Amino acid sequence: MKNRLLFLGPPGAGKGTQAERLASTQGLLHLSTGDLLRAEVAVGSALGQEAEAVMARGELVSDALVLAIVRQRLEGQSAGDGWLLDGFPRNLAQAEALASLLAELGQPIELVVLLELDDAVLIQRLLSRGRADDNEAVIRHRLEVYREQTAPLIRYYRERDLLQPVEAEGSVEQIGERITALLG
Ligand code: AP5
Repeated sequence: MKNRLLFLGPPGAGKGTQAERLASTQGLLHLSTGDLLRAEVAVGSALGQEAEAVMARGELVSDALVLAIVRQRLEGQSAGDGWLLDGFPRNLAQAEALASLLAELGQPIELVVLLELDDAVLIQRLLSRGRADDNEAVIRHRLEVYREQTAPLIRYYRERDLLQPVEAEGSVEQIGERITALLG
């Protein structure tokens, strides 16, 4: 069964919801850069102070900062443990840095799940959640940032034969079943 996974998709597509669920049933490390950054903001660390305003605007935190967090977490994993990356990588530079790190660790990605959903549904889901960066103007900006910086990763991973699109409309359980079916 594939156990080194990456979840890609626009804000609100359900990456966090599905990642948490799958990581718990499969015993994988769930590594969400958004959650890790929010935890740093909550404790008011230097890193959190640097990230807070950037996140509130819906822009991307610096690659160096995010990479340091991911490296620290993945280096602690043994080859067979398995992990699920959610919200990372977010641009081509992060994808290249991740590829080098994983080559170094001998733990290549086995599957990239692309969660696909219409903008209108994404926006509705995020407005009902109401996180600090979930107001309409910031959501629209996060979607723009996704299109400009993150969506090029769709082609990047398709060219590497890793990408599997999943329709992210329906109940949490239905979408979970679609994803589990891809794990082999
Ligand atoms: P991040 O935390 O990664 O947020 P995001 O990508 O905008 O994604 P969301 O958490 O909004 O959505 P999701 O797809 O995880 O959906 P979820 O399951 O939560 O990033 C936040 C910020 O941190 C970024 O803007 C950036 O500043 C910074 N950052 C993070 N990573 C970075 C990186 N690598 N580089 C640089 N900066 C980075 O679901 C959304 C809502 O929908 C929830 O309320 C959920 O309950 C609901 N829901 C889920 N599934 C369903 C369903 N099937 N039906 C109905 N409702 C559903």
